[in-house]
Amino acid sequence: MKIVEVHHPLVRHKLGLLREASTAPALFRQVVGEIATLLAYEATADLPLDDTGIETWAGPLTVGRCDQSRITLVPILRAGLGFLPGVQVLLPSAPVSVIGLRRDERTLQPHAYYQRFVEDIAGRTALLIDPMLATAGSAIAAIDALKAAGVTRVKAIFLVSAPEGLRALEARHPDTEVWTAAIDERLNDHGYILPGLGDAGDRIFGTP
Ligand code: URA
Repeated sequence: MKIVEVHHPLVRHKLGLLREASTAPALFRQVVGEIATLLAYEATADLPLDDTGIETWAGPLTVGRCDQSRITLVPILRAGLGFLPGVQVLLPSAPVSVIGLRRDERTLQPHAYYQRFVEDIAGRTALLIDPMLATAGSAIAAIDALKAAGVTRVKAIFLVSAPEGLRALEARHPDTEVWTAAIDERLNDHGYILPGLGDAGDRIFGTP
């Protein structure tokens, strides 16, 4: 599985701000958005361009155009919503497909309680958006659903990833491409990433 840990100094600086427990939700949201933009910039480096003829002040010219109709952005509810606006800064026309997952208490497997994919999703590249890759249960379930709907390529953007989650994702979906601001040390007994940054959803939405 392709895994890119983005070491850009601005990403590392901003991630340090998020790791500070005292960073308040407003700044936390802003910085999450900034890192999302920087990760999305890296993750879109190989998007194909179409040659398009335009008229310039000096006559006709062929320029490259990125066709956003081949992409869909896929935030995983809830925390993925906090990561989405930063990606939309770069891909404002890409349609958004949403998936919400909760754990089935009987099977302990993630179950989609909400799924609204763009109608013509088959054949698109999905940009999966979630701040934290912990056990990877949600990411795997989301990619299962995307592939079942005909998605052919998945690029995933995670703020912080646990090695356990990356291993689990690779075992199930080795064709996924991952960009992350950090691969942290490990998961604790409650499934939180160490050192991580706590509960990303709570910190983004200001819930206790
Ligand atoms: N989800 C979070 O928000 N934080 C973690 O550390 C793990 C999962």
